[in-house]
Amino acid sequence: MDILIGLQWGDEGKGKIIDLISRDYDIIARFNGGANAGHSIYHKDKRITLKLLPSGIFYPHIKNIIGTAVVIDPVALKAEIQQVQTITSDSDLIDRILVSQKAHLVLPTYKYWDMYYEDSPQYRTIGTTKNGIAPTYSNKILRQNIRVGDILSKDFETDVFHILNQQYAELEALGQDMPEIQELYTNFLEGCYFLKKLQITDTEIIINEALRENKKVLAEGAQATLLDIDHGTYPYVTSSNTIASAACVGLGVSPKLIDKIYGVTKAYCTRVGNGIFPTEITGSLADELREKGGEFGSNTKRPRRVGWLDLPALKYAVMINGVTDLVLTKADILNGMNEVPICTAYEINGETKTLAAVTFVDNAPRPIWKFLAGWDTPLNKINQTTQVPKELKLFISFLEEELNIPVKYLSTGPQREELIILGN
Ligand code: IMO
Ligand code: MG
Repeated sequence: MDILIGLQWGDEGKGKIIDLISRDYDIIARFNGGANAGHSIYHKDKRITLKLLPSGIFYPHIKNIIGTAVVIDPVALKAEIQQVQTITSDSDLIDRILVSQKAHLVLPTYKYWDMYYEDSPQYRTIGTTKNGIAPTYSNKILRQNIRVGDILSKDFETDVFHILNQQYAELEALGQDMPEIQELYTNFLEGCYFLKKLQITDTEIIINEALRENKKVLAEGAQATLLDIDHGTYPYVTSSNTIASAACVGLGVSPKLIDKIYGVTKAYCTRVGNGIFPTEITGSLADELREKGGEFGSNTKRPRRVGWLDLPALKYAVMINGVTDLVLTKADILNGMNEVPICTAYEINGETKTLAAVTFVDNAPRPIWKFLAGWDTPLNKINQTTQVPKELKLFISFLEEELNIPVKYLSTGPQREELIILGN
């Protein structure tokens, strides 16, 4: 099994890369997160943002698996499938979506808990996507949650009714604004009954059997390394494990069966939500980069914070994930710059660090910069390694040397075919 993960704070362009490399796989399986993800891909020139569906959805030969450690909002998944159905003529789309019966459900009250924590002054404001992700994983760990397989139980409606009533009363007592409970209940059940049309199954068995038959499986990560609940910039992280090893847990696959690990990084850096961002830039330079890169949340539409490439953090991400193949995206956005800044080290409390976990208690690190020559060739016009401008080639070799792994793919624009395979 191969794995593809993000190496920064999300939005590295994972969806686009998966969509393109999917054609070589039999199964694409999402292993973490939920509708907080926003994987944008182009289908027939239309941009579509996938939240829960794996990014191989537009290939008729691919089985798409939503794995065990994913948290599923049935209302969001139903809407997403219906949206995909409007743009594809693929009649057996539904038959190609398999859902782990052990995946946890995002109950309709969880979004309101998410909002309550975010908006109450006595709690930390993380800047979440307000999709109810943290409350779902919390209730999973508390062992109070219900799972996809429970939809098939005869007591399902009564159980949901009981939990919703209790949570609704608690939220109401806290003064949280909410729609009528009946509306939440009805929409949720409709979403769950829609889910029943998909194959609710033991996805870990399906994946392992496929691997035994030498079929190719790609595990699709959502969010990214620095948002990992354990290894990210806690508390400003998401609530799941986002790193490569989480694919084994999330899908039920042995670490012995992992082959390639693709790590995706932008040529610069972005972050949505709060938390440390050592290479962040502000002001008009930031506004320009944000506009040029279209750096607005594909899920929440929030303007993303922007900054330059952070090598100490990237080295850390490559190490934690064991990346074998690097994917570089959005180098096209830096086109036309005289010099491209890269942070090569942090200075922190008088010490220089070239590899860092980005967890600093009191003092923020001071980035130490290196400036590489910029390039000025519209990259979406090129389709061969030999046409890559020499300055960008030097940028790539610099990354390869520092990170000690090859850059396998260079994305040259947002469209599916705008990608160059480098080396072999
Ligand atoms: P993709 O898969 C970027 C961020 C949120 C917030 C923090 C916690 O498109 O890369 P959550 O709703 O998960 O509790 O929010 O995590 N976040 C993302 N940022 N891309 C994502 O997904 C993200 N999913 C969550 O902005 O800072
Ligand atoms: Mg995104």
